Amino acid sequence: MANIAIIGSGRISNGLAPGWLAAGHNVTIGSRDPSGVEAPDGATITSQSESLRNADVVAIAIPYGNVEGFARDNADALRGKVVIDASNPMRGLVNVGISGAQVTANAIGEGARVVAAFKATFFNTLTEPVGPSGQRRDVWFAGEDEAAREITAGLIADLGFRPIDCGGMENTICLDLLVPLVIELNGRAGGERVISFSVLDHPDTTG
Ligand SMILES: NC(=O)c1ccc[n+]([C@@H]2O[C@H](COP(=O)([O-])OP(=O)(O)OC[C@H]3O[C@@H](n4cnc5c(N)ncnc54)[C@H](OP(=O)(O)O)[C@@H]3O)[C@@H](O)[C@H]2O)c1
Repeated sequence: MANIAIIGSGRISNGLAPGWLAAGHNVTIGSRDPSGVEAPDGATITSQSESLRNADVVAIAIPYGNVEGFARDNADALRGKVVIDASNPMRGLVNVGISGAQVTANAIGEGARVVAAFKATFFNTLTEPVGPSGQRRDVWFAGEDEAAREITAGLIADLGFRPIDCGGMENTICLDLLVPLVIELNGRAGGERVISFSVLDHPDTTG
């Protein structure tokens, strides 16, 4: 059982919280305005900084443009924790050749354990890990710290998805680049946000 802080109370936060709660984890939502947010059943809602206090794992689910500042302001609290970064830089960052997860890790500094995950997972599929075709959806993730990736894999499996370990930090930019592509494909497929990427014939380590 992990103590998970989810930063942000929007669509991704609301998609992640129920599955992690159902799997027996403690979930605390960190919001800029806790009084204005209704927490999902079983979750606690508090300020961003307070949510970090007892967390083992921190899932970042706020707009990309605010992540670096959040990570810098809370670097001491984030250091050593598994930080799952779901934020999407979209096309903005690609030209400078550095991933969003790397920016987050740099802002935390020494001891950062950032894993990029859920980047190309549409929020509405977070509670539907099995797609309309009956196939279990993949969540691809990458990050420098192998133990942090293992913990992330377990949390992805707890939501019902198939975790796909994409390796080290150097591959996080690939995950960022998939996002404009999945949005384009979604538009071409009718815009219902039910599509997701899958690796064929990849061993499923979680059953
Ligand atoms: N939507 C998707 O399908 C999807 C898929 C994969 C990844 N993502 C990424 O996940 C992140 C969250 O997306 P979302 O769809 O959940 O967005 P959202 O519904 O707009 O929710 C974002 C939450 O972030 C907080 N927030 C808003 N403005 C902020 C600011 N200026 N500074 C700090 N916090 C702020 C708010 O929570 P509080 O008011 O409680 O602080 C808000 O509820 C984004 O980076 C997005 O790129 C989204």
